[in-house]
Amino acid sequence: MGATEQPFVTKYPTDVPAMGDGPLPVEPYVSRAFFEREREKVFKRAWLQVAREEDIPNPGDYRVVDLEVLGWSVILTRGADGDLRAFHNICTHRGNKVAQQPSGNARGFTCGFHGWVYGNDGELKHMAGEEYFPPGTDRCKLGLMPVTMDTWNGFVFVHAQAKPAQSLREYLGGMADQIDHFPFDRCTRIARYEATPRVNWKVAIDAFQEAFHAIMVHRASLPNSAAAPQNPSAALTSARFHGPHRSLSAWANPNYRPPEVGMIVGKYGPTFATAKDQFPGINPNADDNWWFDINVFFPNFFCDTGPGWYFTYNFWPISENRTRWTMDIYQLRAEHAGGLLAQEHTKILLRDAVLEDFSTLEATQQMMESGALTHITISELEIALRHQMHVINQWLAA
Ligand code: FES
Ligand SMILES: [Fe+2]
Repeated sequence: MGATEQPFVTKYPTDVPAMGDGPLPVEPYVSRAFFEREREKVFKRAWLQVAREEDIPNPGDYRVVDLEVLGWSVILTRGADGDLRAFHNICTHRGNKVAQQPSGNARGFTCGFHGWVYGNDGELKHMAGEEYFPPGTDRCKLGLMPVTMDTWNGFVFVHAQAKPAQSLREYLGGMADQIDHFPFDRCTRIARYEATPRVNWKVAIDAFQEAFHAIMVHRASLPNSAAAPQNPSAALTSARFHGPHRSLSAWANPNYRPPEVGMIVGKYGPTFATAKDQFPGINPNADDNWWFDINVFFPNFFCDTGPGWYFTYNFWPISENRTRWTMDIYQLRAEHAGGLLAQEHTKILLRDAVLEDFSTLEATQQMMESGALTHITISELEIALRHQMHVINQWLAA
């Protein structure tokens, strides 16, 4: 940048919370005690995204979701009435798990210990040995224990509390308002990637909520796509704060030309590298040279949206330095072979990009644990990291 040029300016259409600008302590990223407080004060008090409704489309379909951070196993199951319900995966007799398979279709669940049978509405249908239980033992009260669940735009969320202080829609607030019209129902899942890196969940999240790293980390998969002389540090075009959530818009270099194959495939359908069209629910600030939106739902769910595709990340803490990460990629349903090619291109390009993203995680965690570095130094490019830590501290104090 020459002496007369101004740095690229990020716009903030919403109020920016007062978060200070000092260095952030390393301790929250390495401390077991801090993690235990997050478990109690954050994960047990937030709506947590666990599935898409289309994962459990038909009556009898079920899916087991293990939530290590709560120590819970949850069954999501669709009843004969078509309603989706969530239950603890616990037999009310002596506590065995009732669903053994990760997913399937069944009329109900038979406990493998003494044979109690539950319907997918949760009712205890058959109580083996019923005549031997003491008088007053009420079979009607021994159904599967419900878990608080709700859906938004096909996303299934659960909550650890029986009566959360806010409904799901209240909790999502302005974040849901911003994205509500994205046509999630016209998209189909094209890939799922999973990993369990040795990293604190916030270190992992932070690697995906700024574009600054693109100048180094993604120089192989997406060279020059997010940075150029007019924006050399890949500053965001805009960032919005919606309560505990946030939405960031990444800048696209207008002179970026994907490799030949990307250009060709991009003619037949949306791809991560090439799609720039108008589309509902994206680019909320109508930014020039907009690429895609990074939408972070507090505490651990991302839904990044672009013109014709979206992808999600879930960062599930297992311990202070182990995280289970999943990525699901969705794109408009293909109407012809070219659309399938476009899906394939998105899937592979994002695979390469996230492999690059993973290249720094474990080394960062290991060095944070060395004790040599007590604070990390944060720029405006990384304002989302500061916001995540700010919100966590608020929740821990509340
Ligand atoms: S623990 Fe399930 S039937 Fe006994
Ligand atoms: Fe990245």
